[in-house]
Formats: sequence, C-alpha cells, structure tokens
Amino acid sequence: MTQADVVILGAGAAGLMAAIEAGRRGRRVIVLDHARAPGEKIRISGGGRCNFTNLDMRAERFLSENPRFAMSALGRFTPWDFIARMAAAGLGWEEKAEGQLFCAGSARNLVAMLMTDLNAAGATLHLSTPIETVTHGPDGFRVATPRGPFVAPRLVVATGGRSIPKMGASGLGYRIAQDFGLRVVDQRPGLVPLTLGGGLLSRAAALAGVSLQAEIATPHRRFRGGLLFTHRGLSGPAVLQASSYWHEGEAVTLDLAPGQRPAETLRARRAEHPRQMLSRALAADLPERLAADIVAAEGLEGRLGTISNAALDRLDAALHRWSLVPQGTEGWRTAEVTLGGVATDALDGRTLAARKVPGLHFVGEVVDITGWLGGYNLQWAWSSGWAAGQAV
Ligand code: FDA
Repeated sequence: MTQADVVILGAGAAGLMAAIEAGRRGRRVIVLDHARAPGEKIRISGGGRCNFTNLDMRAERFLSENPRFAMSALGRFTPWDFIARMAAAGLGWEEKAEGQLFCAGSARNLVAMLMTDLNAAGATLHLSTPIETVTHGPDGFRVATPRGPFVAPRLVVATGGRSIPKMGASGLGYRIAQDFGLRVVDQRPGLVPLTLGGGLLSRAAALAGVSLQAEIATPHRRFRGGLLFTHRGLSGPAVLQASSYWHEGEAVTLDLAPGQRPAETLRARRAEHPRQMLSRALAADLPERLAADIVAAEGLEGRLGTISNAALDRLDAALHRWSLVPQGTEGWRTAEVTLGGVATDALDGRTLAARKVPGLHFVGEVVDITGWLGGYNLQWAWSSGWAAGQAV
C-alpha cells in the first residue's frame, strides 16, 4: 500500500496543474494515469501548437447548467497567470484571432514545462496504471490498481471527458461521482463536426475540401467563421462552435454570404456581362465548386442576361438561408470536448470539492463546464486544477 496526502487521477492539463500546486504546498502527491504519456490532449491541441488560453474569459463563453460557476477559479488563476509561467520557462506565444493564444513553438514544450514543474514540486507520476476501484474507508480514499492500492485523505478526479476514447478518455470520473452520490449531467459530444444524410450528404461529399467564411445558426446561437464541407458533412470552426449548441433533430441555417448582397452584385454584373454564365459570375464571390452547386440546386444555370430579378432574389435567399437538418455528429471519435459532467451544484466553486464528500475534488473537463473553441477549455483545466491544488 502506498500512502500519500493527495492522489490525483488523470495526468492531463487539470490533473498536472493540481499536482504541481499541491506539491508546491508541501503535500505528498501521487498522480495515476492509464495512458503511456502525460498531457496527450495538450500535445495534439491547436493542431500541435496548443491554443492554451483566451484573453476574453467570461461566463458567456462556457456551456453548463451554471456557466457562472467557472468564474471563481478562472478569476483566481487567470490567463495572465498561465502566461507568466510560460514566460518564466522561456516559452513564447502568439495571439491569433479574438484573443486566442497559441504556443510559439510545439505544444510538446508546454507538456515538458509541466513535467519539469511537477518534478520540481516533488510529485510522483505513475503512468500505464489503470484504476480498478475507488473506495472510501477510515484511512481515506483507496484507489486500487495493478501496482497495489494508493491511499490518501484527499482525492482529485481529473480524468477528463469522453471525447476521443482512442486517447484514453473513459467514463471513470462520472462513475466515481455517481458512486459517491453526486449528480452528473448527461454528456454529449461538443466542438464536433456535423454529419449529413441522403441528398445533403451527396452534395457535401461532392464539395469536400471547399471552405469559406460563413455563418451558421442553431435555434440557440449563431457563429460566424470558417465552414468546411467534408465527406461526412460540415466542419470548420463556426460549425464546431455551433455543434455545442445543437440538439438532435434541430435544423441549422447556413448563411454562405454573410454581410453580402449577392442579388445586387449579380444584377450589376448582368448589366456589364450579360453573356457570362451565372455560376461563373457567382464564383467571383464564392468558391467555384460551391457556386456551381448552389446554382445547379436552384435549377438556375444560364447566361446572366437570361436570369430574371426574381431568380436572382431566390438565389440570394438560398445563399443566406440554407436550412438543413444534420443527421447527427461525428460523435466521441472526433469531438474536442464533452458537454455535461459532474453537476456544478454538487461542487464548491472555490475549491472544486464535493460539498457532500469531504476531501473529494473534481477538476477540468469531467465537470459540467465546457468552453467555446479558442483556448477556453484548457484555461478551465489550468484554473480548476490550480484551485483544487490550493485546497487539498
Ligand atoms: P484530459 O482528457 O486532458 O486528461 C484526462 C487524463 O485522465 C488523461 O491523461 C487520461 O488518460 C486519464 N484517464 C481517463 N480515464 C482514465 C482511467 N479510467 N484510468 C486512468 N486514467 C484515466 N482546448 C483548448 O483550450 N485549446 C485547444 O487548442 C484545444 N484543442 C483540442 C484539440 C483536440 C483534438 C481535442 C480532443 C481537444 C482539444 N481541446 C482544446 C480540449 C482540451 O484538450 C481539453 O478540454 C483538456 O485537455 C481537458 O483537460 P483535462 O485534464 O480535464 O482532461
């Protein structure tokens, strides 16, 4: 049996942060993870450059039964606190759109920084260690593993969500919460491509690889940004953002020419180039394959001079208001995050401790806090891990 002050389940962003902070406070910390390497999602995030935070932290950027719950931890360990750590480690960063901060170099450097901090804090990490059972007895929490039991009066659950099972995601954190009588909000994939069926799928597949700036609206929220047609349906940043707000069976509306007036533009072109084909004229403002697809779908191909104003208005409406019902999402296989998780009303926002179970904490993605695309999810992992690390 190995005794510690704190056992942490999961060596992802949240678990590593909690371990570093608890170790710096002199706690004997053991981190257990069934994966072969720590911080695997950090390594692959942001296309290998890790969008590690966002400068615009506010409750509206999070989905949860209670998005404001996240603000306590986010206010105590802010994006600037994380940036200061990176600077101290000699790591650079660059700002992309809308306050999104990415590593200047490889995300591997960030994982290496965390491992250096973990070792300096004196915490012990056991990888390739599956968790068999978690129980509570007179000596504290007891975590059974093939390496023998680990026992501590404090347990931090940082096992992440369900997305990308191939990378080690499991439902362990939710099971532990339920075993200890905590409420868990149903989970569904978030920041995930949408899939299409039937004729829509054939159209998307024929357009696979075409990308453009567009707007996508669900009944709950609209997003403007990149949209990409794929062999399965729709992807790209705007679609991923919208997917977190989309529910099965709902229609989404695409605006393929946001802020533009295609009918007006085409009328002006018709006056100058009446012999130009409509799809070619439209391709001045849209990707060529998409322009041809929309014109064909509306049954409007012909020379501009033969196209009526009413037909141009119809085309305009088709571009601004393409309403379709996705078949579903690509699911856990490709989802970047998990919506739902351990209910926030079961936890203390300052310490991430379970209100009903002294010594038990939940941090990171396993909690019912899900950020938008753009660095919000990792900042939640850093901040919640930091907050628990101060309390254990
Ligand atoms: P995380 O999933 O990182 O860690 C959980 C750990 O627990 C893992 O190491 C796992 O092996 C371990 N574990 C799970 N079950 C276990 C079990 N049964 N036994 C033992 N160990 C177990 N966010 C962002 O802000 N910016 C970005 O650029 C990106 N990009 C991005 C790309 C892709 C492809 C994905 C999938 C996700 C992102 N994200 C992101 C989301 C972000 O990576 C994610 O929200 C955080 O890494 C979550 O950190 P956690 O520590 O909570 O869980």
